[in-house]
Amino acid sequence: MMQRRQLLQAGAAGAALGLSHLQEALALGLGGGDGFAAGVPELLPLQGLDGRDLEARDLQIEGRLPAALRGTYYKNGPGLMSRGGQRYRHWFDGDGLVQAWRFDGGRVSHQARFVQTQKFRAESQAGRFLLPAYGTAIKPELPITGPDSVNVANTSVLRQGGRLYALWEGGSAYELDADSLAAKGPRVWAPELAGMPFSAHPKVEADGTLWNFGSTPGGRLALYQISPQGQVLRSTVFKVPASTTMVHDFVVTERYLVFLLAPIHLDMQAVHAGSAMLDAMSWVPADGTQLLLVSKADFNQRRLFSMPAAMVFHFGNGWDDGKQLQLDYVEAPALPEVNVSLRAIMRGERRLHQPSTPRFLRLDLDSGRITLQSREESVEFPVVDPRVVAQRYRHVWYPAAIDTQGRWGYDGLLHLDIESGRRQRFCFGQDVVVEEHVLVPKPGSSKEGEGWLLGLCFDSRRQRSFASVFDAQAISAGPLAKVWLPYWVTYGFHGKFYAA
Ligand SMILES: [Fe+2]
Repeated sequence: MMQRRQLLQAGAAGAALGLSHLQEALALGLGGGDGFAAGVPELLPLQGLDGRDLEARDLQIEGRLPAALRGTYYKNGPGLMSRGGQRYRHWFDGDGLVQAWRFDGGRVSHQARFVQTQKFRAESQAGRFLLPAYGTAIKPELPITGPDSVNVANTSVLRQGGRLYALWEGGSAYELDADSLAAKGPRVWAPELAGMPFSAHPKVEADGTLWNFGSTPGGRLALYQISPQGQVLRSTVFKVPASTTMVHDFVVTERYLVFLLAPIHLDMQAVHAGSAMLDAMSWVPADGTQLLLVSKADFNQRRLFSMPAAMVFHFGNGWDDGKQLQLDYVEAPALPEVNVSLRAIMRGERRLHQPSTPRFLRLDLDSGRITLQSREESVEFPVVDPRVVAQRYRHVWYPAAIDTQGRWGYDGLLHLDIESGRRQRFCFGQDVVVEEHVLVPKPGSSKEGEGWLLGLCFDSRRQRSFASVFDAQAISAGPLAKVWLPYWVTYGFHGKFYAA
């Protein structure tokens, strides 16, 4: 159980900093009746927040924060896990909480707002869940007219054409006001694409061109090419040429869009009968994984290649030279293992997860031969320098499990130089859980990797979250700075930094 004295201390710290809402108030009343066992320190943030927003200014800075780091780090993740004594059963279900960490010449502020989706507003008013979630069966009490009826906007963020969006793979991008984070509503990119899913992993090339996809449970795939100004240049919708039902991320290279279609079958009858989407999925390894290659120049030119079954959430990057194509990804445990783990942690139960590990794929474009190389480090959430998206690259950074000793989550960071095979690591120690860290290019630099690595962590002993900033080329030297919140925030998935 969370110690009341520590809660009061956190509350006093909050009061001293003039917080709009105290963490004390947020945490009281939770932990009972909703099925969360709050005894595992590193899982505390999965308890969730109560739907109120957070704000803190002049954050405490430990170490030396680079003065040239100016801009906003937006991060999204599931923030609300229970209502009226009912708790979501899967981490992916929670309603989106978007954070804005604003770095302004050595001063940092924090703001976190729940995305006021249609679903969030209706359920807040009712004081209970009214709509089904991805991993939790809830009998709908409101009509479901399309994907956005159940959009939780909880996975990532995007700023394109001067607008900010909260992203969720099952529905539309949800537009937010970039300053206040107030929700404006689902973005319709073009009338014929209204309500089509827009994945949480768009890829933006160095010239600002954005590529994205959206996949429907019925096995259709939408493709989008969007200009730096936010206009749809081209789009298409087609039937996925494989029996898959979940596509989370993809890769863009100079000539291609690349998808790994994992053998996940969906029992639509079970979904219609009220089963949670997740419980209607099954893993059919005999079908293997299909690699789908789509020409960027002509979406109708598509090729399919077979490879062994692999469960993949995230890619680092990819490139091609017309003869060969290379990419990297993180291979996750297959279904149902991955979801057994994600459900255990949502009950507050410590459960060791099978590691997800780096993979490097090479496709010979003439012969169709695929070769795979793997590494053993336990990692997720790979990132590359945003300047090398779709181009030849050599550096990938990940949160990594280095010395977790039976604890859930990542405790450090890993930097791989994929040409030399050299690596650098840093471990924060047993008390800290490390989330995705993004690469922020140093102003005036041009070389890949010249930048800072910026991301969020949770210190389970102090029960506070912090942002850490590293020199991306020297992560083993430890963080340059930690920026402390006077409270904790829920774990997020993905973020993006936009320079001021
Ligand atoms: Fe993701």
